[in-house]
Amino acid sequence: MRPDSNPGNGNEDAGIRVGFTITDQEFETIRALVKSKTGISLGLHKRDLVISRLSRRLRALGLSSFSQYIEVLRQAGDGGELVQMMNRITTNKTDFFREKHHFQMLADTLLPHIYAEGEVSGKRVLRAWSAGCSSGEEPYTIAITLQEFFAERPGWDYKLLASDLDTTMLERASRGAYDSAMLEPVPKNLLNKYFVRTGRGEEVFYQVKPELRQLISFRKFNLMNDTYPLKVAMDFIFCRNVLIYFDADDKARILRRFHQALKPGGHIFVGHSESLMMVKDIFTYAGTTVYRKI
Ligand SMILES: C[S@@+](CC[C@H](N)C(=O)[O-])C[C@H]1O[C@@H](n2cnc3c(N)ncnc32)[C@H](O)[C@@H]1O
Repeated sequence: MRPDSNPGNGNEDAGIRVGFTITDQEFETIRALVKSKTGISLGLHKRDLVISRLSRRLRALGLSSFSQYIEVLRQAGDGGELVQMMNRITTNKTDFFREKHHFQMLADTLLPHIYAEGEVSGKRVLRAWSAGCSSGEEPYTIAITLQEFFAERPGWDYKLLASDLDTTMLERASRGAYDSAMLEPVPKNLLNKYFVRTGRGEEVFYQVKPELRQLISFRKFNLMNDTYPLKVAMDFIFCRNVLIYFDADDKARILRRFHQALKPGGHIFVGHSESLMMVKDIFTYAGTTVYRKI
């Protein structure tokens, strides 16, 4: 199947299509719904974003106002339309090898450390989690880093969990098909090794090879849930460019749940503008936007 060449809500909010307006009350209702269902705090300045991202949906449903749309959301309860709305509101921008220094730190420092400990204890198992994985570029980059590292270190069982709230993104991630523009950050040798070029002319795209795909389990999961029902503890968690959408209290709660989900001494990687100052009692600095469980 061909990948979608325009993934949608990356950052194309400038293209506001005129036609719909939103009253203060409608905006407040949508903000409250988004906050209660996703934890995402939409600032007051996000009014245009809400209009631009939801207008097409209103048109598709044949609605003429946001108040009609709110009624549809109310009638749907926690079902279909709420998922559709959340899929449109979340920001999914991502890239292969985004914030490259994280993958260098992983390959040069963290994986050798995990490997050395596992060789001593005899527990040759590694588990990692990409929380807020969007369309899959982040977990596939982690998987490539793992595969490269363990290629010459046999006998290890390593796997990744990749989760997101947005079902459209999860489907895309699970499909693992990307067009060449999306794969620009991937070094040529790795592109040839882990992707198969398919199609022809304008229809060319790259499919992730099964050996990489099978390392990852994709799951729908809301980070606002009170408990994280993980079967095993994680060696490290990537939760990058997700926490920025939550308010300080929710962020701290999520980080405390991550703390529980990690093995002793496990690591968390966050986005370049994110800090863990508010939970410095349980995480300590371990590198640029990388923290270790205390
Ligand atoms: C900007 S993307 C970041 C993707 C990737 N981590 C990266 O840094 O390239 C943020 C992702 O977080 C997801 N997200 C937002 N709120 C969430 C929640 N409450 N639970 C799970 N995922 C959520 C969005 O759907 C989106 O795919």
